[in-house]
Amino acid sequence: MSTIPAYFAANVDDHQYIEAIGESVNAMISGLESDQGQVTRSLETLKSSLQRHFITEENIMSDLSYGGLLEHSHSHILIVGEVGDCLRSIAGGDYQQSINIWPRVKAMLRYHVQRFDQDLVRHLEQAAKQPGLTVASSPPLAALI
Ligand SMILES: [Fe+2]
Ligand SMILES: [Fe+2]
Repeated sequence: MSTIPAYFAANVDDHQYIEAIGESVNAMISGLESDQGQVTRSLETLKSSLQRHFITEENIMSDLSYGGLLEHSHSHILIVGEVGDCLRSIAGGDYQQSINIWPRVKAMLRYHVQRFDQDLVRHLEQAAKQPGLTVASSPPLAALI
């Protein structure tokens, strides 16, 4: 049985989950009494959620020998790097970068979904039509959220 449909469901839910974390980080940063320790922990959660989601996609692309894997993965690295740079700035005492971190990452993610994820979904839809195909590393939904 193909696990690709499970991936589709997980991917959509996962994007929504990441957006929800990002919005809460943004609300916290914009708050009048934002606690930098809490901001840092929330940004770390955002970063690890992004990494987990991206690794899932990269495993699937690898399983399918997807031709766009390198370019797609490079875009993942840039997005995680943006959050990582922000965390390093905060650790160095510079909170300025954190003010617009979520709007920046959200814009990068929106572009990423249009430019890369949608192409991957089209590729998966084609692959799913092949009889007997299984993507073994596609995790169950519960493992992603
Ligand atoms: Fe994605
Ligand atoms: Fe992606």
